[in-house]
Amino acid sequence: MSQPRPLVAGNWKMNGLSASLQEVKTLAGRLKANDTIAAQVMICPPATLLAALSTELEGSKILTGGQDCHAETSGAHTGDIAAEMLADAGAGAVIVGHSERRADHGETSENVRAKAQAAYRAGLTAIICIGETQTQRKRGDALKVVSAQLSGSLPGAATSENTVIAYEPVWAIGTGLTPTLEDVGEVHSHIRAELAGRLGEGEAAGLRILYGGSVKPGNAAELMGVANVDGALVGGASLKADDFWAIVSVYAASHTMG
Ligand code: PGA
Repeated sequence: MSQPRPLVAGNWKMNGLSASLQEVKTLAGRLKANDTIAAQVMICPPATLLAALSTELEGSKILTGGQDCHAETSGAHTGDIAAEMLADAGAGAVIVGHSERRADHGETSENVRAKAQAAYRAGLTAIICIGETQTQRKRGDALKVVSAQLSGSLPGAATSENTVIAYEPVWAIGTGLTPTLEDVGEVHSHIRAELAGRLGEGEAAGLRILYGGSVKPGNAAELMGVANVDGALVGGASLKADDFWAIVSVYAASHTMG
């Protein structure tokens, strides 16, 4: 299978009010005017904006996604959102197992796998997040942790179509710190090899592995240029159209990598 089409996804986390739709309009306008961007572009806004954003982006090249979902279809789960509800609101994907969910809400890899299965059930792509803490990296356990999270979180039904993996070192999220390019390459090729063991070489080659954690306009080109990095999951820098556009533009035909 040939190299997968890159994906640049913006994770707005708990940020954004109705006024933020303007940023997305700006972004959609730029994408429309520049049709050489080779990457798929996605915004994962807070749930309150998902339907409005999806409507706004109808007919544009930008996809929308949720930031989490419940494993069940419906029921007595106050405050939770089913994958089917995200799909109904226009989402094409959902982030599951973000480290903030794993840390703040005690989500285990088993929970994450159930959420990814719920995403498939609803016809959504599951963006499954994995990544080590600083202590784990310092101990030399980064690859071990990533392997354990991957094998625990990835459903048996995962394919290159319904799943995206996001490698996000916890210590790099929102900190301005990033791993060396060598370390990013090491983890991504390790994830690719693990995927090949699970899904077979062909399927693994087509499954996108995103890097996330302090991706900014200034470091996006070098990070995206690392082997086995098929795009980015972007937090802070996805909130402003200018910053996000600069990152997306790494995949413009005119851009020279490296
Ligand atoms: P950041 O967040 O880009 O603000 O570091 C990335 C993420 O948590 O997905």
